[in-house]
Amino acid sequence: MLNVAVMGYGVVGSGVCEVIRTNAKSLCEKLGDSVRVKYVLDIKEVNPNDPEASQIIRDFDILLNDPEISVVAEVMGGATFAYDYTKKLLLAGKHVVTSNKELVATKGTELLKIAKEKNVNYLFEASVGGGIPIIRPLYSCLAANEINRITGILNGTTNYILTKMFRDGSDFETALKEAQEKGYAERNPSADVDGIDACRKIAILASLVFGKEVECNKVKTVGITDITEADVAYAEKMNAVIKLIGQAEMKENKVYVSVEPRIIAKGTPLASIDDVFNGIMVNGNAIGEVVFYGPGAGKLPTASAVVADIIDCLRNDRNREYFWTEAEDDFVADSQYNSGRYLIITDQAEAVEEKLPVCERVVIKAGECGLVTDVITEHELSNISSYAKKYIKLCE
Ligand code: HSE
Repeated sequence: MLNVAVMGYGVVGSGVCEVIRTNAKSLCEKLGDSVRVKYVLDIKEVNPNDPEASQIIRDFDILLNDPEISVVAEVMGGATFAYDYTKKLLLAGKHVVTSNKELVATKGTELLKIAKEKNVNYLFEASVGGGIPIIRPLYSCLAANEINRITGILNGTTNYILTKMFRDGSDFETALKEAQEKGYAERNPSADVDGIDACRKIAILASLVFGKEVECNKVKTVGITDITEADVAYAEKMNAVIKLIGQAEMKENKVYVSVEPRIIAKGTPLASIDDVFNGIMVNGNAIGEVVFYGPGAGKLPTASAVVADIIDCLRNDRNREYFWTEAEDDFVADSQYNSGRYLIITDQAEAVEEKLPVCERVVIKAGECGLVTDVITEHELSNISSYAKKYIKLCE
C-alpha cells in the first residue's frame, strides 16, 4: 500500500481524493501497488458522509511524523501555513507536490533548494495551466531548446469573463459571479481579475526556463477590471479579441515580462482559446513555436496534474531537479523598455500622431478614435499619456 497525504480539502483537494479513488484500479496497475489517501489535513468541519471523512486530521504533526507518508500534496493555497508545512515536510525528506502558485512564485527558490539538498521532489505541475502539461514539457521535452519567448492565457477566470463579454455581451460582474460559482475563481477574486494569479504563473514559467528567479514585483501587471464594452467594440472593429496575456521574453540577457490585457487578431492560435481554457505558446530555437492548450482551472483538471506529480514521486524516488537560482538585479528589464504596438484611444488624435508613429485609425463613434501605433516603448507611450483615454497593447 502506497500512502499519501493531502493538505487542504477545498476544490482541488477534494478533486485529488476523487481522482485517486475513481482511478484506483488503473493507478494500482501503473504503480504495481495500491494508493490511498491516508490523511487529509483541514481545519474545517467535513460532512460525516463525505468519502474522506475518516481521513480528516487537524494536526499537521501526524502526517509529518508518519514514516508511511512519503508524498504530500499541498493544495491549501496561500504562503503562510503552506510555506511552513512544505518546508518542514521537505526537511523531513518527504516529497511535496502542489498547485499553489503563490507559494511557488514567492518561495519556490528556497523550497527547491531545500528539496535538492534533501534529494526529494518539489513538483508544481498544477501551479500553471491547471490540467495542461506545461512544467514537465518545458523542463524535459523542450530541454534541447533555448526558449526565447513564452506567451500565455494563464488565468481561466479572466478568460471566462472576457469570453462572456465578447460572445454574450455579458457585463463583468455577472461573468465573474458565474466563474466563481463554477469553482474557477480564487477565493479573493482580485487575484484573478487584477492579474495577480497570471503574474505568479508567468513568473514561475520565466524562472523555470530562464534559470533565475523572476520576482512577481518585477512583472508589470494589469488586470481586466477596466475593460469596457467600448474596448470590446474597438477590438471587434479590428477583427480581434482581448485576452489577458502573460508574456516573458529573453532579449540580450534580460527578461521582458508582463501581464496585461492585449488585443489579439482573430485567427491566431491564442485568440480562439475561450472560456476557462488556457493556452501557452512557447518559442524555442529548435522547435519554433508550440502551443499547449487545455482546461486551465477547475477541480478535476487541476487534480489531474497534482495526481500526476504524486505518481511521479511514487515512481521515481529521486530529485527531478527543477531549479532556478536566486533573483538578480537587472535580470528583469524595467517595464519602461517593454515594447510593442498599441491601440491608443483618444479624442486628441492629431496630438498623438505628432508624437508617435501611427499606422491606422479605428473609429467606432464620433468624437474619439483608436490609433494603432507602430512598435514603441512604454516610455514613449508615457509621453502621450495626457492625450490618451486608454491604451491596450497588441499581441503579435
Ligand atoms: N483562479 C485560477 C484561474 C485557478 O482562474 O485560472 C487556476 O489556477
